[in-house]
Amino acid sequence: MKRITLIIILSLSCVFASAQTLVVYYSRTGSNYTADGIVDLKVGNTQVVAEKIQKLTGADIFRLETVKSYALDYYECTREAKEELRTKARPALKSDVDISKYKTIYIGWPCWWGTYPMCVATFLEAHDWSGKVVIPFTTHEGSGFGSSIRDLKAAIPSAEIKKGLSIQGSKVNGADKQIEKFVSENK
Ligand SMILES: Cc1cc2nc3c(=O)[nH]c(=O)nc-3n(C[C@H](O)[C@H](O)[C@H](O)COP(=O)(O)O)c2cc1C
Repeated sequence: MKRITLIIILSLSCVFASAQTLVVYYSRTGSNYTADGIVDLKVGNTQVVAEKIQKLTGADIFRLETVKSYALDYYECTREAKEELRTKARPALKSDVDISKYKTIYIGWPCWWGTYPMCVATFLEAHDWSGKVVIPFTTHEGSGFGSSIRDLKAAIPSAEIKKGLSIQGSKVNGADKQIEKFVSENK
């Protein structure tokens, strides 16, 4: 009986802990650059990582989507992204998530022009981050986080920002061990 009670308590605490965690990410499908040339991504690289983190943590997951889609063509998209960065645009999001009930938030983005896409800034600025533990991750093709961690710290100074994980986009499917280590270090 005691053992059953203990199992129930442990299960409940596990459910409670995972329910307090959110994985939020932006990721783009369409043509994208890799060292081997342009590839057509049906599922974005950052989405692959976000879903692996979600499976390992049992967290809730939310995908940021912009009202205005970015171009599917890689080169056209880089022009759009550069213009948004230059003008400090804050692209509108299709929907939002209430972060108030989460203590720990994994947040992921693809590196765009050395930082996060401006739609991530839209999301960051729309919320109160005090008391939150933020765990960043990114995918990229050479820049790593670029200036995005510095930009993140400036955007949400009230959050506690943990060491993040950066993975080369074209290698996300072979990154399970790296992601498992990252998640276990943040438990
Ligand atoms: C608009 C745009 C800008 C990019 N800028 C960079 C960059 O500055 N540095 C870099 O390493 N990769 C850059 N990349 C490559 C992406 O970061 C990389 O392919 C990433 O894995 C894409 O993630 P996603 O599929 O989740 O969108 C850029 C890609 C795009 C579409």
